[in-house]
Amino acid sequence: MYKPEHLFPLIGRIDDSDLARIVISAWHEVQERRPGVDLKKLPFTLLIPTKRSLIDHTNAVTEMALRIGEMKGGLNLNLLIAGGLLHDIGKVLTYEKRGEGYLAGPLEKTLRHPMVGAALIARFGNFDLVHIVYTHSHEGDNLRRSKEAIIIHHCDFIDFELEKRKVQ
Ligand SMILES: [Fe+2]
Repeated sequence: MYKPEHLFPLIGRIDDSDLARIVISAWHEVQERRPGVDLKKLPFTLLIPTKRSLIDHTNAVTEMALRIGEMKGGLNLNLLIAGGLLHDIGKVLTYEKRGEGYLAGPLEKTLRHPMVGAALIARFGNFDLVHIVYTHSHEGDNLRRSKEAIIIHHCDFIDFELEKRKVQ
């Protein structure tokens, strides 16, 4: 079991003890639920052949989002960091290990990781955070994303599209 604070240094930048606690608790919980999954080896996407891990992607998206948030002003930076660090957490539950690799499990087909992540986070009672997790991908395209959710959504796709250019 990895300590979330070691995986995600930006937890240290969350100046809101409730939000920091949610991020830490949620990452503990998915590791407990998936003891066979090594987070450092879990790929961040199954759509392109990449060795980049979910942890690297999560840190990159959150770092980008924070820089944009600091530049633009008028945003809840604590929520932005927590949202970035949790946006893809559902993948730990929806990706299934097969041999040395991973594939999309039944939950990725029936609910997808934004919904599964949102359901996990909903239990902590912060629905601004649930909103960011749920709307970070296409699930949010027909919804009114919050400012923080807009940034996480775009940073997520920037990181994905740039990785795609490297491998395709
Ligand atoms: Fe992502």
